[in-house]
Amino acid sequence: MKSRITELLSIRYPIIEGGMVSIGDPELAAAVSNAGGLGIITAGGKSKGQLVQEIRLAGSLTDKPFGVNIALNARQQVGSYVEAVTQEKVSAVTTSAGSPEAITGQLHAAGIKVIQVVASVRHAKKAESVGVDAVVAEGYEAGGHNGPDETTTMVLVPQIVDAVKIPVIAAGGIGDARGFLAALALGAEGVQIGTRFIATNECIAHQNYKQAIIQADDTSTALIVRRPGRFFRVLKGPWPQKVLELENAGASTEQLLPYIAGELNRKAAIDGDIEAGYLYCGQVAGMLKEVVPAKEVIDSIVKGVSVLRKRLMEVDL
Ligand SMILES: Cc1cc2nc3c(=O)[nH]c(=O)nc-3n(C[C@H](O)[C@H](O)[C@H](O)COP(=O)(O)O)c2cc1C
Repeated sequence: MKSRITELLSIRYPIIEGGMVSIGDPELAAAVSNAGGLGIITAGGKSKGQLVQEIRLAGSLTDKPFGVNIALNARQQVGSYVEAVTQEKVSAVTTSAGSPEAITGQLHAAGIKVIQVVASVRHAKKAESVGVDAVVAEGYEAGGHNGPDETTTMVLVPQIVDAVKIPVIAAGGIGDARGFLAALALGAEGVQIGTRFIATNECIAHQNYKQAIIQADDTSTALIVRRPGRFFRVLKGPWPQKVLELENAGASTEQLLPYIAGELNRKAAIDGDIEAGYLYCGQVAGMLKEVVPAKEVIDSIVKGVSVLRKRLMEVDL
């Protein structure tokens, strides 16, 4: 498989692991890179020292390129994360939740590719204008933080493809070869995947989280905290239900914040106490039936693409 994304990142398949706060650890990143994609360690919630250690660990587990996700709303930490990635010379950084303008030059000077996650045409154009190498167009189906306009992957990707010249990577709702090929049909040159990689052997997520994902159906996720800079897509459950009830009763953002603290995500995602916190999860969970090795996720996409292409050629349009 060749596209501007495989060329840009020197990877075999244009499949990128999404940044995943609480669970984006080096073991999964290395497994994704070893399988031919781009593994990503998530900086969010970690100290600079921890991040450096994790980059080194990933480097000892793979000789393939891998990257780091930096959520730019963690303003206090961004500088130290940039120091860590430039010092350790990762291949790429995916940025999200803010403008990458202030750090793109510094990352490029260290030879690091910069990919900005966006959820609107306006932000894609802005990212291109400040010199990023590619954008991830992330639709509203995605797990984690969503854009406020609730634009789906199906309509967001082609509009961003038409608006920018840099390569576009599609994210949100991609879990198998069908989603991968659909993204390419929309004009994307690669995909970013989050939720599918949670239900893998290498992911540090608690078994209860993985089980909840593979038991999910098409109605199992909800958007909570529809407030500027928030919009979390999570698995439905008692905790998100409580948050939704507070929102519906008119709670202020300040009143909601204690219910969406990062600690409550870790408690559910890592400790497995899934009723005592919240779990980020995309709508694609309804399609996932098994916990598998990360390599199997990628191999089955690659294999499935050739089967689907053949089938498409045979369709009498
Ligand atoms: C558990 C989880 C945590 C996430 N945390 C982050 C994050 O820290 N930074 C970020 O840029 N995106 C984050 N995302 C979004 C993913 O990087 C990715 O774009 C998204 O999962 C793609 O949609 P999908 O879940 O349908 O595959 C997260 C997603 C999930 C599922």
